[in-house]
Amino acid sequence: MVRRPFVAGNWKMYKTRNDAVALAKGVASKFATPDRVDVAVCPPSIYLDAVGQAIKGSSVALGGQNMYHTTFGAFTGEVNGEMLLDVGCKYVILGHSERRQFFGDTDEFVNRKVLAALKLGLLPIVCVGETLDQRKAGQTAKVVQTQFDGSLAGLTAEQMSQVVIAYEPVWAIGTGVKAEPRQAEEVHADLRKLIESRYNAQVASSVRIQYGGSVKADNAAEMFQQPNIDGALVGGASLEVESFLKIIEAAAAK
Ligand code: 13P
Repeated sequence: MVRRPFVAGNWKMYKTRNDAVALAKGVASKFATPDRVDVAVCPPSIYLDAVGQAIKGSSVALGGQNMYHTTFGAFTGEVNGEMLLDVGCKYVILGHSERRQFFGDTDEFVNRKVLAALKLGLLPIVCVGETLDQRKAGQTAKVVQTQFDGSLAGLTAEQMSQVVIAYEPVWAIGTGVKAEPRQAEEVHADLRKLIESRYNAQVASSVRIQYGGSVKADNAAEMFQQPNIDGALVGGASLEVESFLKIIEAAAAK
């Protein structure tokens, strides 16, 4: 099965409204290869509506950075999947390491969100990845397996096929220290084996696994050359039109 590369920009807690709209419009107007790569932008939730309007009718999709797993209710400060769909989201990032690290998202909590998103027809981008201490202690495979098992528990094969996994080693996020292509490929291949052993080869070959962590315009291509790296979840380099487009073009050339 040929997997279509997928590049998503995680804008985190950056940009003002005008800058967010300008960035979205810039990406949408210059994105020239929608037949070869899927692209999404994930702005802060307060700008989802404005960015959604800005990219309407283009080939750039919209994604949230997080959601709460219940339907409407008294949960001050939270946003649910229905709301994300309502403003035009197709994707939602779940279990990002910053959520796990700073906001207490556990595998079990992420799992509830993943199941809720899938039920609504929102496609989750589920993040996994080890810290530097864990890598140094030789625990990478074990940590990633635990996150995979916990965050993606209870999914049917059909649901699993709709999930995008993002392997984001925590030590590579925002540090400028990207994983070596072969280092990342090893984890991506392990993740695909985990999917195959729980489901089957067909599901395993259909799930897209993005790499995230210091992906830049000048290092993206070498990552995408790896057979199991199907695109990228981009932080810093997605905050400017030109650098994000170069990464998109590198994925389109895969
Ligand atoms: P950077 O690309 O800024 O390292 O961030 C990666 C990331 O966390 C994307 O979700």
